Formats: sequence, C-alpha cells, structure tokens
Amino acid sequence: MTKPTIRLPEGFYLHELDVIDSTNDEAKRLADKGAQSGALIWARQQTTGRGRRGRAWSSPVGNLYSSLLLRPDCPLFEAAKLTFLIAVAMAEAIEMVSGNQIRPDCKWPNDLMVNGRKISGILLESASNDGTQTDYLVIGAGVNVAFYPDDARPATSLAALGAPTSVKDVLQAYVARIAHWLPIWEAQGFAPIREAWLTRAYGVGEPVIARLTQRTLEGTFVGLDDDGALVLRETDGTEHRIGAGEVFFKT
Ligand code: BTN
Repeated sequence: MTKPTIRLPEGFYLHELDVIDSTNDEAKRLADKGAQSGALIWARQQTTGRGRRGRAWSSPVGNLYSSLLLRPDCPLFEAAKLTFLIAVAMAEAIEMVSGNQIRPDCKWPNDLMVNGRKISGILLESASNDGTQTDYLVIGAGVNVAFYPDDARPATSLAALGAPTSVKDVLQAYVARIAHWLPIWEAQGFAPIREAWLTRAYGVGEPVIARLTQRTLEGTFVGLDDDGALVLRETDGTEHRIGAGEVFFKT
C-alpha cells in the first residue's frame, strides 16, 4: 500500500490519484463497491470535472479536486444539510492556509466567494435504497488554488489573491475542519452549522433574484431557515423558502 502523502484525521481514508474523470464519479464507483464512510478521493487533475446544473468544472493540475464519501444514518433531506457543513469547513480551511488574509463568504447554497468572486464550489450527490434513507453521500469540492477559469461568472484563486499555497495544505486543513464539525453535527444537529454558515453568509439583507423551475422571485435575502432553505422576502412582506434553485445577488 502506498503511504498517504497527507495526514488525515482518524476515520478518513485517502484515495490519491493523478488523473480521473471526476472525483465524484470515482467516489460513487467506490461507494457502489461498498467503500466505507470517510473515503476521500483526491485527484491532481480531472478530465470531466462536473459542476452543478450540468456545468463543466475546469480541472487543470494546480487546483484542488476532492470528493468525500459519507454514509450518515439519516434521511436524505437531513443529509443534504451537510453541504453547509462542508462549505463552512472549506471556508475555514481557506482562511487558515491564507494566514487569515482571506475570509471567504458562503453563498447559498454552497459556493465560496471572496470579494464577490467564486473561489470554491461544492457538488453534493446522494444515493438511497428506498428513496428516503441515505445510502451514501458524495460531497465534491473544488478550490481554485493556482488558477481560476475565465468565465462569465467572476472567479478568483488563492494565488490571484496573493495567498499562494499548496493543494495538499488546503486539503489537509479542509479535512481537519470536517473532522471538527462532523461530531458537532452528529451530537447537536444542523443548528450550530447553520449559525457558523450565517456568520459568513453572502448577501444577507441584500436584494436577491431566485430563478426557480417554474418562476423567478425577487426580494431580499433575509436568512436561512432550519432546513437550510434560503428565505426571500418580497416587498409586500411575503416570505418564500427556497430549497433549490439558482440565486443571483445584484451586488
Ligand atoms: C459548482 O460550483 O458548480 C460545483 C463544483 C464542484 C467541483 C468539484 S471538483 C471535485 C468534484 N468532482 C467533480 O467532478 N466536481 C466536484
């Protein structure tokens, strides 16, 4: 067995790869073969990295691509809230490796932003045997360490922000923060994660547009409810809880 090149907390098992199609796809293949909770797939490069909404995720050598396999013993709707835990853990990791120079904001549902530019994205995928209870979760996270894509949506990287670091350091800090937060989630549920996420929330109190499948809503982003839904208040005071969709801030 090859010696892991990074130190992982107890309960995490590294699968280190030079190149793969997508770490999320590899994690799902391993999960289907019975891999245990805590498997962490890390690739230096992805050939078909995927983002949310079927978008491609540019994956050259130099950025972080990882997917964590978890098997939480809970319904799918509870497990989905782990995406906020992951966002907080990654924000803290980026802050740590930058020597507290960079403080990423959490943009609902699970992007990390610095000065309004995206530095990290999370792709959560789940599987269930009965449609209700979680079989497994695969939580993919990409961080722009050395490079960022030239995209219509503004992005940035740690290097561009003047905080060059190694992919390994980001990964190690990230897993350490997950190891910090997971027992809190197990013991206390979503509430402390929600609090931590809200201290970094991007755009609270600001105008927001939510593009849903059937319609578009405009209002103010007033917070996050107990299930992780974005709360949007229209000018007439009507509040909407948005569980899925794409949101745009005007700032
Ligand atoms: C998004 O912001 O749209 C989510 C991006 C998620 C990218 C990561 S990189 C590691 C993992 N493997 C993938 O194919 N996607 C996720």
